[in-house]
This record gives sequence, structure tokens and C-alpha cells, in this order.
Amino acid sequence: MRRDPLAFLGEDMSALKTQGLYRRLRVLDDTQAARTRIDGREVVNLSSNNYLGLTTHPRLKEKARAALEQLGVGTGSVRTIAGTMAIHMELERRLAAFKKTEAAVVFQSGFAANAGTVAAILTKDDFVISDELNHASIIDGSRLSRASIKVFPHRDASAARAILKDLPKTPRKLLITDGVFSMDGDLGALPELCELAEEFGCIMMVDDAHASGVFGANGRGTIDHFGLHGRVDVQVGTLSKAVGALGGYVAGSRSLIEFLHHRGRPFLFSTSHPPSVAATCLAAIDVLLEEPQLIEQLWANTRFFKAGLKSLGLNTGASESPITPVIVGDASVAMRLSDRLFEEGVFAQGIGFPTVARDKARVRTIVMATHTREDLQFALDTFGKVGRELGLI
Ligand SMILES: Cc1ncc(COP(=O)(O)O)c(C=O)c1O
Repeated sequence: MRRDPLAFLGEDMSALKTQGLYRRLRVLDDTQAARTRIDGREVVNLSSNNYLGLTTHPRLKEKARAALEQLGVGTGSVRTIAGTMAIHMELERRLAAFKKTEAAVVFQSGFAANAGTVAAILTKDDFVISDELNHASIIDGSRLSRASIKVFPHRDASAARAILKDLPKTPRKLLITDGVFSMDGDLGALPELCELAEEFGCIMMVDDAHASGVFGANGRGTIDHFGLHGRVDVQVGTLSKAVGALGGYVAGSRSLIEFLHHRGRPFLFSTSHPPSVAATCLAAIDVLLEEPQLIEQLWANTRFFKAGLKSLGLNTGASESPITPVIVGDASVAMRLSDRLFEEGVFAQGIGFPTVARDKARVRTIVMATHTREDLQFALDTFGKVGRELGLI
């Protein structure tokens, strides 16, 4: 009988189970909302990137429905052959104006935008200087580019400077950071890194996936928040989190965007967004511009919830955003905490290695604009109850 050549995969999964790191997929029985049903249980949802509640916003749903009726369900082609519709071009114009850049290009996801862009603009003779906690899509894009990868300790601009001082004066060096770090909720060292990029002639790139719709005027992101317009060459954002739909984009100079039309491999070799997705994103930009109270509510909820977690005596790290980790160290404790919270009606996913360092396992919470005070107080009371039960407080 033929031996299963993939048997080693099962062994890997057994090892995860022994280490308490195996995760069954949680299944939503309802919408992606602040209070919803997951695996048959009513929960307060603290694991969603749907910061502003836009996944179910009436204006977005209406525009998606209209585009579906008028333009159909799919595009049937990649952008560079027959898959560019007028609505894609309109979305890119609106995104560029929103980000205050000359141009923008939309990819199928934020992952594709990061990986496709880094891989396209660098060659094996170039260097990437990257924060150690940058997103996996940046790491993968860097590897694909075959450039030399130099990693600096988290947010440590002086360490980045020491690396840059030792590098040859090659024309292409990419200095890259997340705007908001997805597992810790802290901000990249953008002002310091922009200084360095100017001093050493680097391309400056920021992945603002978790900042778009959250930081800066009307949710323009960390570049706006820090007043760095014109100093970041490559801005990546996602349409999959606060914007509530799906996709990623790069905003920058016209020549950067035209280059990506010709060299960004996910743009060239993967089918474009259905028109309903583009229409949804256009409606989301309208909401960001016309309903800023959603962002204000997100921040009011964030302040309330963070203060509550801290006053319980939990370790919430150095977060500056609606993402607040509850760091417990050991992965099996994080998974136990997450499971017990879930049984009590609070969904906050446990996160362990390799997503975070082995000794920094955590439960990650994300507040939404659409949580009510009752939802958040219930979640805090539950953290208190379960935290005491597990000896964390
Ligand atoms: C920092 C960061 N960058 C990029 C991405 C990828 O975005 P998307 O989900 O749109 O592919 C994510 C999402 O997990 C992220 O957290």
C-alpha cells in the first residue's frame, strides 16, 4: 500500500496539539459585527478588524447591490488584460485624493499589495531595512525580491541608523515599517525613520493596514497623523479592515503606480475585484469623509476599554491604538484564557508562536465603534472573572 507522503503534516499538527497551540477555526453564524453569533454562541466580538462597523453599513450595502445589478458579479480577467472597469479607475482616483498622493493602485488584498510591491521594486543587489515586527506580507515580499534583508529591533530607529551607516551606497535601499503593529497595537517610528530615509537616500515605505480609517484626519492613516505627507514614498493601505470590504492599495507617485501596473505580479497575474467590491470601497470613502463621528466613537470606546483592562491589572503592553493585547506569556495560558472568555460570551482570539514571540503569547482585543458601553463593560467584567480564575490578576 502507498505510504501517505503528507504524513508529516499530521505529525506537525499533533505537535501543535501537545503544545496547546492547535486552533480550530471559529465559525461566524451571523454578520461580522460587534455582537454576533460564533459557533452557536452569542458573543461580544473583540477579534474583528471591522473597526468602524462598515461591513454591515447600509450605505455600503446599497452601493454593492447597485453595482452587482448593473455590472455583474465578476470581472473575468486580470486588470492588465480585460479586467479594468471604470469603477476600478474611479476607486483609485478617490484613494489617491484621500491619501493626498498623485496616484494609487488597488491590489486584491493588503497582503498582495505589500508583497507585490516590495518584490517589484527591489532586486538582488538591493537592501531592505525592516522593523522586526513588520507584517508577514512585507517579510515574504522582501524574500521574493531576493534583496538582502536587514532587520532592526522593534521601533529602534538608532539601530536602523547603525545598519544604514554600514551599508554600501547602493541606489536602492528600502526602509519599511508598519504604521500600526497588528499584534501589539503600537505605532511605527515613522518620524524618525523618515529622517533616516532622507539622510541615507532610502525609499520610505509604510504599511498602514491597521491605521487606515483609524488614525489621521478622516482615517487617512499614520502619515497624516504624524504630518508626514510627501515624505513617505510608498504608502500601503488595506480595504479589508476599517473599510469593511476586501483589497489593498498602494498610494504614491504616478511613476510608482505605473511601474506597479507593469511589474506588480499580483496586479498582472490575478483577477481584479468584482465591481461590487470596488463600489463598496467607494461608499466607504464617502462614509469616512461624511461620518467622522464613527472614528470619534471608535476612539472613545478604545479609551474606555483600555482603561478598564489596565485597572484590572492586566498586562496590555504598549498599545496606542484600538488593538490592545492582553499579554500572558505562555501560549497554553493564552489559549485557555481565550477559551474561557468564549464560554462566558466574549470572543478574543488567543495568539501564540509564530505570530508572536514564544514567551509573548496573548489574547488580542480590538474595540469597534459599534460596541456599546454595555458590550464593553460586559467584556471587562468577564476578563476580570476569568483573569482571577486563571490567576492572572
Ligand atoms: C499590518 C498588516 N499588513 C497587511 C495585512 C494584510 O491585509 P489584507 O488582510 O488586506 O490582506 C494585514 C492583515 O492581516 C496586516 O495586519
